[in-house]
Amino acid sequence: MPDDEHRGGGTPAASVRNVVKRIWDGRERRTVLDDVSFDLARRELVVVRGPSGSGKTTLLAIVGAMLSPSSGEVHLDGEPTSRLREAHRAEVRRRKVGFVFQDLQLVDGLTSRENVLLPRVPDGVRPQDETRATALLERFGLGSVAGVDAKSLSGGERQRVALARALINDPPLLVLDEPTAHLDDARATSIANELATVLDDDRAVLVATHDPRLAQSAGVSRILDLVAGRLDKTHHAWSALES
Ligand SMILES: Nc1ncnc2c1ncn2[C@@H]1O[C@H](COP(=O)(O)OP(=O)(O)OP(=O)(O)O)[C@@H](O)[C@H]1O
Ligand SMILES: [Mg+2]
Repeated sequence: MPDDEHRGGGTPAASVRNVVKRIWDGRERRTVLDDVSFDLARRELVVVRGPSGSGKTTLLAIVGAMLSPSSGEVHLDGEPTSRLREAHRAEVRRRKVGFVFQDLQLVDGLTSRENVLLPRVPDGVRPQDETRATALLERFGLGSVAGVDAKSLSGGERQRVALARALINDPPLLVLDEPTAHLDDARATSIANELATVLDDDRAVLVATHDPRLAQSAGVSRILDLVAGRLDKTHHAWSALES
Protein backbone atom coordinates (compact mmCIF):
# COMPACT_ATOMS: atom_id res chain seq x y z
CA MET A 1 0.00 0.00 0.00
CA PRO A 2 1.65 3.28 -1.06
CA ASP A 3 0.44 5.00 2.10
CA ASP A 4 2.59 2.68 4.18
CA GLU A 5 5.69 3.53 2.22
CA HIS A 6 5.09 7.23 2.86
CA ARG A 7 5.12 6.47 6.54
CA GLY A 8 8.25 4.34 6.21
CA GLY A 9 6.18 1.45 7.61
CA GLY A 10 6.29 -1.37 5.08
CA THR A 11 4.59 -4.00 7.21
CA PRO A 12 1.51 -2.60 8.95
CA ALA A 13 1.63 -2.65 12.75
CA ALA A 14 -1.68 -4.48 12.54
CA SER A 15 -3.79 -5.85 9.76
CA VAL A 16 -7.37 -6.96 10.40
CA ARG A 17 -9.16 -8.98 7.73
CA ASN A 18 -12.80 -10.03 7.73
CA VAL A 19 -12.92 -10.43 11.48
CA VAL A 20 -16.13 -11.90 12.87
CA LYS A 21 -16.73 -12.49 16.57
CA ARG A 22 -19.70 -14.45 17.81
CA ILE A 23 -20.38 -14.69 21.51
CA TRP A 24 -22.80 -16.84 23.48
CA ASP A 25 -24.39 -14.39 25.89
CA GLY A 26 -26.17 -17.00 28.00
CA ARG A 27 -29.34 -16.88 25.93
CA GLU A 28 -28.26 -16.75 22.32
CA ARG A 29 -25.29 -16.61 19.99
CA ARG A 30 -24.72 -13.00 19.03
CA THR A 31 -22.53 -11.48 16.37
CA VAL A 32 -20.50 -8.84 18.20
CA LEU A 33 -18.13 -8.04 15.31
CA ASP A 34 -19.25 -8.52 11.74
CA ASP A 35 -16.69 -8.62 8.90
CA VAL A 36 -14.33 -5.94 10.18
CA SER A 37 -11.25 -5.14 8.07
CA PHE A 38 -8.66 -2.37 8.32
CA ASP A 39 -4.91 -1.79 8.48
CA LEU A 40 -2.97 0.21 11.01
CA ALA A 41 0.23 1.66 9.63
CA ARG A 42 3.03 2.71 11.92
CA ARG A 43 2.74 6.31 13.07
CA GLU A 44 -1.02 6.25 12.74
CA LEU A 45 -3.23 7.20 15.67
CA VAL A 46 -6.60 5.62 14.96
CA VAL A 47 -9.71 6.12 17.05
CA VAL A 48 -12.44 3.46 17.24
CA ARG A 49 -15.66 5.25 18.01
CA GLY A 50 -19.13 3.90 18.60
CA PRO A 51 -21.96 3.64 21.09
CA SER A 52 -21.81 1.45 24.16
CA GLY A 53 -22.07 -2.20 23.14
CA SER A 54 -20.97 -1.59 19.54
CA GLY A 55 -17.95 -3.89 20.00
CA LYS A 56 -15.03 -1.49 20.63
CA THR A 57 -13.48 -3.37 23.55
CA THR A 58 -13.96 -6.71 21.78
CA LEU A 59 -12.25 -5.33 18.67
CA LEU A 60 -9.30 -4.01 20.71
CA ALA A 61 -8.97 -7.39 22.43
CA ILE A 62 -8.88 -9.19 19.08
CA VAL A 63 -6.47 -6.76 17.42
CA GLY A 64 -4.24 -6.96 20.52
CA ALA A 65 -4.25 -10.80 20.43
CA MET A 66 -6.01 -11.14 23.76
CA LEU A 67 -8.96 -12.85 22.12
CA SER A 68 -9.31 -14.96 18.98
CA PRO A 69 -11.86 -14.07 16.33
CA SER A 70 -14.52 -16.61 15.37
CA SER A 71 -13.30 -16.16 11.80
CA GLY A 72 -11.04 -13.80 9.92
CA GLU A 73 -7.39 -13.04 10.51
CA VAL A 74 -5.25 -10.54 12.39
CA HIS A 75 -1.55 -9.97 11.72
CA LEU A 76 0.56 -8.10 14.23
CA ASP A 77 3.67 -6.61 12.68
CA GLY A 78 3.40 -9.29 9.97
CA GLU A 79 2.78 -12.25 12.31
CA PRO A 80 -0.57 -14.05 12.08
CA THR A 81 -2.15 -14.36 15.54
CA SER A 82 -5.70 -15.55 15.11
CA ARG A 83 -5.11 -19.27 15.00
CA LEU A 84 -2.31 -19.47 17.54
CA ARG A 85 -2.72 -21.43 20.74
CA GLU A 86 -3.11 -19.21 23.78
CA ALA A 87 0.46 -19.69 25.05
CA HIS A 88 1.98 -18.70 21.72
CA ARG A 89 -0.50 -15.87 21.22
CA ALA A 90 0.40 -14.53 24.68
CA GLU A 91 4.04 -14.55 23.68
CA VAL A 92 3.37 -12.58 20.45
CA ARG A 93 1.13 -10.21 22.40
CA ARG A 94 3.86 -9.51 24.92
CA ARG A 95 6.35 -8.58 22.21
CA LYS A 96 4.03 -6.71 19.88
CA VAL A 97 1.34 -4.96 21.95
CA GLY A 98 1.20 -2.52 24.82
CA PHE A 99 -2.18 -2.19 26.56
CA VAL A 100 -3.69 0.55 28.65
CA PHE A 101 -6.90 -0.85 30.11
CA GLN A 102 -9.79 1.34 31.15
CA ASP A 103 -9.22 0.43 34.82
CA LEU A 104 -5.42 0.78 34.28
CA GLN A 105 -4.65 -2.39 36.29
CA LEU A 106 -1.76 -0.90 38.23
CA VAL A 107 -0.52 -3.02 41.12
CA ASP A 108 -0.90 -1.16 44.40
CA GLY A 109 1.92 -1.93 46.80
CA LEU A 110 4.43 -1.64 43.94
CA THR A 111 6.09 1.66 43.08
CA SER A 112 5.55 3.51 39.80
CA ARG A 113 8.87 2.19 38.59
CA GLU A 114 8.08 -1.40 39.58
CA ASN A 115 4.75 -1.14 37.78
CA VAL A 116 6.48 0.10 34.63
CA LEU A 117 8.95 -2.81 34.79
CA LEU A 118 6.30 -5.49 35.42
CA PRO A 119 6.05 -6.64 31.77
CA ARG A 120 9.80 -7.36 31.86
CA VAL A 121 9.60 -9.66 34.88
CA PRO A 122 8.87 -12.91 32.97
CA ASP A 123 12.08 -12.51 30.92
CA GLY A 124 14.11 -11.06 33.78
CA VAL A 125 14.71 -7.31 34.16
CA ARG A 126 17.92 -6.34 32.36
CA PRO A 127 20.01 -3.20 32.98
CA GLN A 128 18.72 -1.73 29.69
CA ASP A 129 15.15 -2.21 30.93
CA GLU A 130 15.99 -0.17 34.04
CA THR A 131 17.40 2.55 31.79
CA ARG A 132 14.33 2.49 29.57
CA ALA A 133 11.99 2.62 32.60
CA THR A 134 13.84 5.68 33.89
CA ALA A 135 13.57 7.38 30.49
CA LEU A 136 9.84 6.62 30.20
CA LEU A 137 9.13 7.84 33.74
CA GLU A 138 11.01 11.08 32.99
CA ARG A 139 9.30 11.47 29.65
CA PHE A 140 5.85 11.36 31.21
CA GLY A 141 6.75 13.66 34.08
CA LEU A 142 6.88 10.85 36.65
CA GLY A 143 10.53 11.13 37.70
CA SER A 144 9.67 12.51 41.12
CA VAL A 145 7.13 9.75 41.84
CA ALA A 146 9.19 6.83 40.48
CA GLY A 147 9.62 5.40 44.00
CA VAL A 148 6.10 6.16 45.19
CA ASP A 149 3.57 3.38 45.80
CA ALA A 150 1.03 3.32 42.96
CA LYS A 151 -1.84 3.56 45.43
CA SER A 152 -0.66 7.06 46.48
CA LEU A 153 -0.58 8.48 42.94
CA SER A 154 -3.10 10.94 41.51
CA GLY A 155 -5.46 9.83 38.74
CA GLY A 156 -3.38 11.54 36.06
CA GLU A 157 -0.16 10.03 37.39
CA ARG A 158 -1.70 6.55 37.43
CA GLN A 159 -2.77 7.03 33.82
CA ARG A 160 0.76 7.98 32.80
CA VAL A 161 2.33 5.08 34.72
CA ALA A 162 0.00 2.75 32.82
CA LEU A 163 1.09 4.39 29.55
CA ALA A 164 4.80 4.07 30.44
CA ARG A 165 4.27 0.41 31.37
CA ALA A 166 2.54 -0.26 28.05
CA LEU A 167 5.63 1.11 26.28
CA ILE A 168 8.36 -0.71 28.22
CA ASN A 169 8.62 -3.49 25.61
CA ASP A 170 8.71 -0.91 22.78
CA PRO A 171 5.71 -2.53 21.03
CA PRO A 172 4.79 -1.72 17.41
CA LEU A 173 1.16 -1.38 18.57
CA LEU A 174 -0.24 0.51 21.53
CA VAL A 175 -3.89 -0.13 22.41
CA LEU A 176 -5.92 2.02 24.81
CA ASP A 177 -9.50 1.48 25.94
CA GLU A 178 -11.35 4.66 26.97
CA PRO A 179 -8.22 6.39 28.28
CA THR A 180 -10.01 9.64 29.13
CA ALA A 181 -13.14 8.18 30.69
CA HIS A 182 -12.58 9.62 34.16
CA LEU A 183 -10.41 12.61 33.35
CA ASP A 184 -11.14 16.33 33.45
CA ASP A 185 -10.60 18.46 30.32
CA ALA A 186 -7.01 19.37 31.09
CA ARG A 187 -6.01 15.74 31.69
CA ALA A 188 -7.89 14.53 28.60
CA THR A 189 -6.01 17.06 26.47
CA SER A 190 -2.71 16.04 27.99
CA ILE A 191 -3.38 12.34 27.21
CA ALA A 192 -4.18 13.27 23.60
CA ASN A 193 -0.88 15.16 23.36
CA GLU A 194 1.08 12.32 24.93
CA LEU A 195 -0.40 9.83 22.48
CA ALA A 196 0.66 12.00 19.56
CA THR A 197 4.30 11.95 20.82
CA VAL A 198 4.18 8.17 21.22
CA LEU A 199 3.74 7.87 17.45
CA ASP A 200 7.21 9.31 16.94
CA ASP A 201 8.59 6.00 18.17
CA ASP A 202 7.45 4.35 14.94
CA ARG A 203 4.43 2.60 16.37
CA ALA A 204 0.70 2.61 15.75
CA VAL A 205 -1.84 3.62 18.37
CA LEU A 206 -5.41 2.30 18.48
CA VAL A 207 -7.77 4.00 20.91
CA ALA A 208 -11.38 3.15 21.71
CA THR A 209 -13.30 6.13 22.94
CA HIS A 210 -16.59 7.91 22.81
CA ASP A 211 -14.92 11.03 24.10
CA PRO A 212 -15.09 13.80 21.45
CA ARG A 213 -12.19 15.56 23.21
CA LEU A 214 -9.98 12.69 22.11
CA ALA A 215 -11.63 11.85 18.78
CA GLN A 216 -11.27 15.47 17.65
CA SER A 217 -7.72 16.01 18.88
CA ALA A 218 -5.08 17.08 16.39
CA GLY A 219 -2.96 13.92 16.33
CA VAL A 220 -5.75 11.59 15.19
CA SER A 221 -5.07 10.13 11.72
CA ARG A 222 -8.35 8.29 11.20
CA ILE A 223 -11.62 7.45 12.88
CA LEU A 224 -13.23 4.03 12.56
CA ASP A 225 -16.93 4.19 13.33
CA LEU A 226 -18.31 0.95 14.73
CA VAL A 227 -22.04 0.53 14.52
CA ALA A 228 -23.43 -2.71 15.98
CA GLY A 229 -20.19 -4.53 15.22
CA ARG A 230 -19.73 -3.25 11.67
CA LEU A 231 -17.43 -0.53 10.40
CA ASP A 232 -19.50 2.32 9.06
CA LYS A 233 -17.95 3.01 5.67
CA THR A 234 -20.11 6.03 4.94
CA HIS A 235 -17.70 8.09 7.05
CA HIS A 236 -14.07 8.79 6.32
CA ALA A 237 -13.07 5.58 8.08
CA TRP A 238 -11.68 3.98 4.97
CA SER A 239 -10.09 7.01 3.39
CA ALA A 240 -6.52 5.87 4.05
CA LEU A 241 -7.18 2.43 2.56
CA GLU A 242 -8.78 3.86 -0.54
CA SER A 243 -6.10 6.44 -1.27
N1 LIG B 1 -17.68 -12.29 27.17
C1 LIG B 1 -18.86 -11.85 26.75
N2 LIG B 1 -20.00 -12.56 26.96
C2 LIG B 1 -21.18 -12.13 26.53
N3 LIG B 1 -21.36 -10.98 25.84
C3 LIG B 1 -20.28 -10.22 25.61
C4 LIG B 1 -18.97 -10.61 26.04
N4 LIG B 1 -18.11 -9.67 25.65
C5 LIG B 1 -18.83 -8.74 25.01
N5 LIG B 1 -20.13 -9.06 24.97
C6 LIG B 1 -21.20 -8.30 24.33
O1 LIG B 1 -20.70 -7.85 23.09
C7 LIG B 1 -21.16 -6.54 22.80
C8 LIG B 1 -19.98 -5.62 22.55
O2 LIG B 1 -19.28 -5.43 23.76
P1 LIG B 1 -18.05 -4.46 23.90
O3 LIG B 1 -17.62 -4.51 25.33
O4 LIG B 1 -17.03 -4.83 22.89
O5 LIG B 1 -18.69 -3.05 23.54
P2 LIG B 1 -18.07 -1.59 23.69
O6 LIG B 1 -18.29 -0.89 22.40
O7 LIG B 1 -16.68 -1.67 24.22
O8 LIG B 1 -19.02 -0.93 24.80
P3 LIG B 1 -18.67 0.20 25.91
O9 LIG B 1 -18.64 1.51 25.18
O10 LIG B 1 -19.83 0.12 26.86
O11 LIG B 1 -17.37 -0.15 26.55
C9 LIG B 1 -22.01 -6.13 23.98
O12 LIG B 1 -23.35 -6.35 23.64
C10 LIG B 1 -21.56 -7.05 25.08
O13 LIG B 1 -22.61 -7.27 26.00
MG1 LIG C 1 -15.75 -0.99 25.94
